[in-house]
Amino acid sequence: MVEQTKNDKKQEPGPASPPAIVEVRHLTKRFGKKVVLDDISLFIAKGRTTVVIGPSGCGKTVLIKHMLVLLRPSEGEVHFEDRRIDDLSEAELSRVRTRFGYLFQEGALFDSMTVAENISFPIRQHYKVKDWRAIEDVVKSKLAMVGLDGFQNSYPANLSGGQRKRVALARAIALNPEVILYDEPTTGLDPIRSDIINELVLKLERELGVTSVVVTHDMKSAYKVGDRIIMLHNGKVIADGDADYIRNHPHPIVQQFINGQVSEDDLAVLRMAGAASAAQFLPRDFDS
Ligand SMILES: Nc1ncnc2c1ncn2[C@@H]1O[C@H](COP(=O)(O)OP(=O)(O)OP(=O)(O)O)[C@@H](O)[C@H]1O
Ligand SMILES: [Mg+2]
Repeated sequence: MVEQTKNDKKQEPGPASPPAIVEVRHLTKRFGKKVVLDDISLFIAKGRTTVVIGPSGCGKTVLIKHMLVLLRPSEGEVHFEDRRIDDLSEAELSRVRTRFGYLFQEGALFDSMTVAENISFPIRQHYKVKDWRAIEDVVKSKLAMVGLDGFQNSYPANLSGGQRKRVALARAIALNPEVILYDEPTTGLDPIRSDIINELVLKLERELGVTSVVVTHDMKSAYKVGDRIIMLHNGKVIADGDADYIRNHPHPIVQQFINGQVSEDDLAVLRMAGAASAAQFLPRDFDS
């Protein structure tokens, strides 16, 4: 287990930093006996972009699902603005969730719906719609925001991966959210399409003042969009600071992750796996 290093620069909200809009306090999440998040406390600063990095399976998606209370903590609390939200009923949460946009890791567009129907879905879900013209205008403006006006009547199956991500983003901003949670928005995209998504994240922050939380494996994207980068490992926050701070972080696990190097532990597992499979083909197995 890696402990938080001593010189981690914890960013507490204070006079110099914007107030917290989302905060998790002593959050622990277990699935059965497995502890995925282990007493994590952090805040998300209003109007800023916070990036969450960490190895696959370390709990990044689980963490941001708690911010929306799509998962409930085993222990600890989640706050939105000045209010505790993890103990609210589903009906109360539904109102809070209108203030969030969530870009799912899988994209999750409805294949049987057109682009316009996908984007207007959250609006139709949360409000009784009478003015269909107004909805068309909202869809148009959201598509224009992601550079896809004109694709209203297309179906997701006929779009490229990058276009689908942008439609999912247009849907995530349909209700003018104050906080957008992006779960690996650039995964599976080529560098140019990834950069279009990065630019969109920045544009939403600049033009609409939204608060963003971006989960990513893509360090180029993390450095570009993040005002602050948080690294999770073994259920804990092991690094928390701006891009320069993370680049120069002394912890070997942080360096291995940001430089895409395999750790000694991973190598040991690979060697063991190699030894096991080689053992299956020892010459003596073929001796009669
Ligand atoms: N609903 C669930 N029930 C049981 N275990 C779960 C559930 N959701 C997540 N987990 C487990 O929690 C751990 C963290 O999962 P999570 O999806 O948050 O990882 P991640 O950091 O987002 O990984 P990736 O980078 O691959 O998306 C994993 O071991 C996963 O199997
Ligand atoms: Mg994930």
